[in-house]
Amino acid sequence: MTEREFTVAAANQFIKEHAADVDTTFRPQVHFTAPVGWINDPNGMVYFQDAYHLFYQYYPYDSCWGPMHWGHARSTDLVHWEHLPVALASDMPYDNNGCFSGSAIVKGDKLWLMYTGNIVDENGENRQIQNMAYSTDGIHFEKLACNPVLTGADLPEGFNKPDFRDPKLFEKDGRYYSVIVSQHVDQVGAVLLFVSDDLEKWEFASVFLKGLPEQGFMWECPDYFQIDGQDLLVVSPMRFKRTEHDYANINSSVIFSGKVDWERLEFVAEDVKEIDHGQDFYAPQTLEDKDGRRIMIAWQQMWGRNIPTHELKHAWAGSMTFPRELRLRDGLLQQVFPLEKAELKLLQSAEAEQVSLEEVLSGPIHLLLEGVVEKGSLIIGSEQDKLILSYQDDILALDRTGLALAIKGEEKVSVEKRTLALSSLYKLEVIVDGHALDVLVNDGRESLSTTFYIEGERRLHLDLQGQDRVLASLSEIL
Ligand code: FRU
Repeated sequence: MTEREFTVAAANQFIKEHAADVDTTFRPQVHFTAPVGWINDPNGMVYFQDAYHLFYQYYPYDSCWGPMHWGHARSTDLVHWEHLPVALASDMPYDNNGCFSGSAIVKGDKLWLMYTGNIVDENGENRQIQNMAYSTDGIHFEKLACNPVLTGADLPEGFNKPDFRDPKLFEKDGRYYSVIVSQHVDQVGAVLLFVSDDLEKWEFASVFLKGLPEQGFMWECPDYFQIDGQDLLVVSPMRFKRTEHDYANINSSVIFSGKVDWERLEFVAEDVKEIDHGQDFYAPQTLEDKDGRRIMIAWQQMWGRNIPTHELKHAWAGSMTFPRELRLRDGLLQQVFPLEKAELKLLQSAEAEQVSLEEVLSGPIHLLLEGVVEKGSLIIGSEQDKLILSYQDDILALDRTGLALAIKGEEKVSVEKRTLALSSLYKLEVIVDGHALDVLVNDGRESLSTTFYIEGERRLHLDLQGQDRVLASLSEIL
């Protein structure tokens, strides 16, 4: 067999010929999935030419990870996505083993990408360097002749050259910056800051934030932004130390809040929080849209798991979470589904102290509960094959142990059931869509994202006991 050549043209041809091979049994409709093949991290999220652009880590040729391409899609409502041609393939010596994660920025009328070239050199050694590409139509990308724009030689003392990846671009006061992760020799993660005046010549600026030993041995996919003047830094640490309810997955995604010292170019962290408490949420990235809204999307998967669509040869694996708008309310982070009323069609609702709803699911649905809940459960599936979200004694639990197609992870302690401690439960919003479930808790103060694969009937059964009256409404997402 000849070795496959990884080019944009070959990938697009393969997709055209094989998109129809996908078995859609578990495939969601309003969560983004690739036309065929494997996806992981969201990349290059940007609002450009009146649309939301989502690029993503993509291997079209199989339902498992392989040499990374950048897939590309766009949406005007964050609910429905249009596939666009593949944007990047690993076709240059400076990205010969994959175009890893990165980001996008608009400069003038061009869209620019910064991504990590993962390279294996002639001695079989792995290195990571940073490259740029640009586009005038937002669809076809040209890699810069001066690539790479940053290499291990630009790292300060004490950082490991092979682990230098995932640049996120931003602009401040007319200069361009990029936050990029690297591993410190102390075996902790760190975010480094680089600066440029033209997006082509880059130089090291500072160690933006260095992690503590319990915060993981390496960080991935940084994102720096502000909401209402508050500085926030998102990273995805590998092996953050588990606590009773937090950081249970093998890798976590966290948000630091704090203050950037722009003299010293350092992020002074004041607080850190796990962003999501489900089993499947990793490598989130954000964009700012034309209305100033900060929109976050994560990969709705986790490393180290078996993926039933791969095992069953369905020709696809992985999806993105349903997008969430990030807000700050009373200084606390809030996640909001960007769903308009016009996108929902009410199926049934009930308001009482005790509420029961039942519905056999086919397409994507949205469930809203309002009112203080004493205890309750939401079961999807059947007696023999089910996913359970339950609330009792101030613990919200998302439980996959009843699923026939078991999903196991590499975690030392099983995460089939994840828990979240609450002081009360007064609002819950749930989206169920194919294999994906997203939960927002108490006005989006917390979230849980997971996947589940149920082959037979998908009956939704809700049972609630309220402290007073509880309102439950179930709608189709159009
Ligand atoms: C995170 C990650 C990134 C890397 C990419 C490779 O999930 O490991 O650090 O760039 O995936 O696909």
